[in-house]
Amino acid sequence: MRSRFYSKILALGMAVPPKVLTNFDLEKMVETSDEWITERTGIKERHLLEKEEVISTYAVKAAKEAIERANLSPHDINLIIAATLTPDYLMPSLSILVQKEIQAEKAGAFDLSATCSGFLYALVVADQFVRNNPDWKVLVIGAEALSRKTNWEDRSTCVLFGDGAGAAIVSSSEEESGILDFILGADGSNWHLLTLKGGGSTYFPFDERLPKEEYYIKMQGREVFKIAVRMMEKIALELLRRNGLSSKDLALLIPHQANLRIIEYLRERLELPKEKVFVNIHKYGNTSAASIPIALYEAAKEGLLKRGDYLLMVSFGGGFTFAGVLMRW
Ligand code: UT7
Repeated sequence: MRSRFYSKILALGMAVPPKVLTNFDLEKMVETSDEWITERTGIKERHLLEKEEVISTYAVKAAKEAIERANLSPHDINLIIAATLTPDYLMPSLSILVQKEIQAEKAGAFDLSATCSGFLYALVVADQFVRNNPDWKVLVIGAEALSRKTNWEDRSTCVLFGDGAGAAIVSSSEEESGILDFILGADGSNWHLLTLKGGGSTYFPFDERLPKEEYYIKMQGREVFKIAVRMMEKIALELLRRNGLSSKDLALLIPHQANLRIIEYLRERLELPKEKVFVNIHKYGNTSAASIPIALYEAAKEGLLKRGDYLLMVSFGGGFTFAGVLMRW
């Protein structure tokens, strides 16, 4: 039986490193052009960590902002879930580093790995905890430093990614609002199309069986593109259908920011006007698990979400993972 409680997002935070790499900078690094990148992806620039920086710095900044905006103190946080593929270390986890830094002394903390769908997966996990523990406050983070896993000699991937972090505080609500429904999906049958093999337990560090480029993200972009558009459309339509809604009821769609052409395809399939689909890929590139919380933060800040509005968020990523969350703001 469903708990009588719903979970809602109390407040948001975000942080990106100040360093910006433009398409023109990339023109000097690999054989590419601003025109190609803009036309094929919609990306104009991305924020990247400096060599001596770590992504936990930005996860902490985003977390602190979200806690402050929620008028809470770190002491009020019961659980921290950090969605990431690129924690500072494999051990300790990113969520533990955040827990220490913000001094959330009563919080449990774990990382969640679901690639670009990580934030939505983590939001759904938080939803389960909050509905069953209505006095809980869960800090959900999506933070990623894909620049550290990027092969800067591979023009087919290095133009795509950026670094950053977003955070949300999830708490309970007795009103029928907040998270109304979700879909979490996975399909491992095509896992080989998008990989990051080095750093797992199959190959030991500096294993000569593994070519150097396998320590970086490798992608068959065109194939991934086709799966992405198909699955995002499927999830979006299914969530609308089973909640008796049509796309016209949506105030805003926030899709994972991987490629403007994927976003445009989805917009057309859902017959949504441009102003109802949030896009910030031109500023940040694909920040994987951080993409949706950063977009949500900016959408809320721009006043695009009003109380009672229907919001749909959809994502996909390596694995493949898929996720959709339908909310009433
Ligand atoms: O969130 C993780 C999931 N990942 C994604 O969502 C990415 C999905 N895929 C994509 O976004 C697109 O497939 C890409 C942006 C990665 C590539 O765009 P595309 O239109 O699928 O290009 P393509 O890979 O089919 O390559 C077309 C041409 C090729 O040249 P030829 O063989 O036609 O001569 C590539 O070598 O474009 C070339 N190319 C480039 N040219 C200039 C590939 N990368 C570049 C580049 N600059 N950076």
